[in-house]
Amino acid sequence: MKKLQNSTPYSPRIAVIGLGYVGLPLAIALARHFDTIGLDANSGRISELKGGSDRTGEIDAATLRDTSLELTHDVSAIKAFDIYIVAVPTPVDNNKQPDLTALKGAARTVGEIMEKGAIVVFESTVYPGVTEDVCGPVLSETSGLKVGQDFFLGYSPERINPGDRAHRIDNITKVVAGQTTAVATRLADIYGRVNGGDIFVAADIRTAEAAKVIENAQRDINIAFINEVAMIFDRMNLSASDVLAAASTKWNFLNFSPGLVGGHCIGVDPYYLAHAAKTFGHEPEIILSGRRINDGMSGYVAERISAQLGRASRILVLGLTFKENVSDLRNSQVPDIVSSLVADGHEVIVHDALADLTEAKALYGIELRNTYETGYDAVVGAVAHTAYLDIDLTNIVVSGGLVADIKGLWRGQADGGEFRYWSL
Ligand SMILES: NC(=O)c1ccc[n+]([C@@H]2O[C@H](COP(=O)([O-])OP(=O)(O)OC[C@H]3O[C@@H](n4cnc5c(N)ncnc54)[C@H](O)[C@@H]3O)[C@@H](O)[C@H]2O)c1
Repeated sequence: MKKLQNSTPYSPRIAVIGLGYVGLPLAIALARHFDTIGLDANSGRISELKGGSDRTGEIDAATLRDTSLELTHDVSAIKAFDIYIVAVPTPVDNNKQPDLTALKGAARTVGEIMEKGAIVVFESTVYPGVTEDVCGPVLSETSGLKVGQDFFLGYSPERINPGDRAHRIDNITKVVAGQTTAVATRLADIYGRVNGGDIFVAADIRTAEAAKVIENAQRDINIAFINEVAMIFDRMNLSASDVLAAASTKWNFLNFSPGLVGGHCIGVDPYYLAHAAKTFGHEPEIILSGRRINDGMSGYVAERISAQLGRASRILVLGLTFKENVSDLRNSQVPDIVSSLVADGHEVIVHDALADLTEAKALYGIELRNTYETGYDAVVGAVAHTAYLDIDLTNIVVSGGLVADIKGLWRGQADGGEFRYWSL
């Protein structure tokens, strides 16, 4: 193994590859301590950021203006850096299988310009083995360098939660793993400078990869259980919210809420774990049945709304993004609700407080509105954006109309309103 220098303080030059929800906040945080450059394959993304705007809403204009982070679309600008951190998407394909195209592409990019001594860290969520068995060989082939000798691998899963202002990159525990102890120590030092030293060094890279993927799979399964019981209680004419309020008074009851599971983490990562399980000869049961339940929730919600309306109606859907207080429309379950309601003959008007109208049209063919009127037969609270919390429903829904409050935003208005109230 090549010995890494132990100079103090360690001041590596860092390149972050992929400047999305994960890569941009990380690159900005690193740039406060290190000479850092951010590369994105999408030149439009670089122009947008250079122009002071982050469409993900994670970084404000003032921070973008003041950061020392260099931004580039030019691969030659990241040549011969000390540390490469890869944060590109790891989605699933149409068959719900891991799609490692972007990850392999980023590994090729780094392989072409890295030099001896480099450490290449992956932050993208993957199943155990991807860093060492997929990315390592791509890096070796393109660079002509030997992994574990000329260059080293690391893995540090990202835990940030878009739209969550409490759990930020500088105040959550960061898991790191390195191909060698020396690499892990270096990574602990680098990431520790960002979050005040709150680092957990995992046993090895595979362990860190596995830890991340089960964090999200566990969440998916817990929500699936609550969704299943919510469907059961709906049939029993029991309020799931009331049942959960009572049950959660027990010290070890896990407090999850029913709802739609979308996005590119919780709804995707379990498929990575399932794929890895099958490769090792284990047919996953809980993991995939959790996915089935959560994937079926949009259909269930649309069916219940149509059944309660009983006739073709004018429906206002509030929220289209995959979760509250983000503008991210990818992998949202709401478009499925919209298309089911349209298929049932309803006129559906969709509003989102944060999403981009053009993107909604391009991704889902939905003519998103940024204003809404009054007098709808039904209002569907699909996403709990803060902007929707204080809405006065009596001004929006007709007397006797239906309020379908998927996220339980308006429970306070449920009693006494001149409308029918339904929630998961
Ligand atoms: N968004 C989250 O909440 C979150 C949280 C934890 C972990 N993750 C994981 O982090 C990874 C990144 O997710 P994200 O949400 O930041 O994705 P994103 O789609 O927001 O951003 C990825 C960026 O990478 C760029 N890119 C794609 N291929 C590239 C390449 N070959 N070279 C350079 N740039 C490239 C894209 O243009 C895009 O700007 C994924 O594996 C995801 O599962 C995401």
